[in-house]
Amino acid sequence: MMGGERIVVAVDGPAGSGKSSVSREAARRLGLRYIDSGAIYRAVTHFLLGHLGTLEKGESYAGHLDGLEIAQRFDPDGSVQTFVNGTDVSRAIRDELIARNIGTVSDDPGVRNFVNGLLRSWSRRESLIMDGRDIGTVVFPDAAVKIFLDASAEVRSLRRAAEYREMGKTVDVNEIRNQIIRRDQEDIARPFGRLAKALGSFYIDTSSMEKEEVIKRIIELIAEAGGPRVVDGRPG
Ligand code: DC
Repeated sequence: MMGGERIVVAVDGPAGSGKSSVSREAARRLGLRYIDSGAIYRAVTHFLLGHLGTLEKGESYAGHLDGLEIAQRFDPDGSVQTFVNGTDVSRAIRDELIARNIGTVSDDPGVRNFVNGLLRSWSRRESLIMDGRDIGTVVFPDAAVKIFLDASAEVRSLRRAAEYREMGKTVDVNEIRNQIIRRDQEDIARPFGRLAKALGSFYIDTSSMEKEEVIKRIIELIAEAGGPRVVDGRPG
């Protein structure tokens, strides 16, 4: 990273690839701000459900976003809080009701424009590490560093299951694997902002990597961002 310049680091990848935990930790260590773009889509879904009660697939919701203010805070300790009109919704957006409706919201091109505008406005103020599905392809195609984090569906399912166990939840690995596969299909089939490897992105398959190794690799790539690019990728 060049001293004093603002940079954007875009980290995309499928559900369970670990992108949010490693991005958050890399940001914490580097003193950069981390933005969880998935949480922004969740916050929009929360707002729309609160106003409209139910949401219909294929409907356009951009006209219902007046009066919606979303903010996200990243604490130096690495925790993230998301606010809708000043209310902390960080917990509420992890609800099953949000998960059931988010596809309707994130498929809506008007909503995507709204979210993209918000994400870009934050980048004009400070350097960011942002994770999502279309950050390197659509939101910041000129990001200084673009990373595509991947792992096999099997490994992602096992990691998710371990996370749930740590939280004291009972887990059915088959059910988790099915959810991961369903979300992959949704992410790839989305008409706008679908998950894809951005041109010039670094492809990191984390299937047999420790979390610490992935964090170090990301930090290394950011440090090298001012120098020549080595594209360690697979065909997009
Ligand atoms: O990362 P996550 O699971 O919290 O994301 C929630 C949903 O938002 C997920 O279904 C995909 C969608 N999403 C998106 O369409 N574009 C992004 N940049 C980030 C998330």
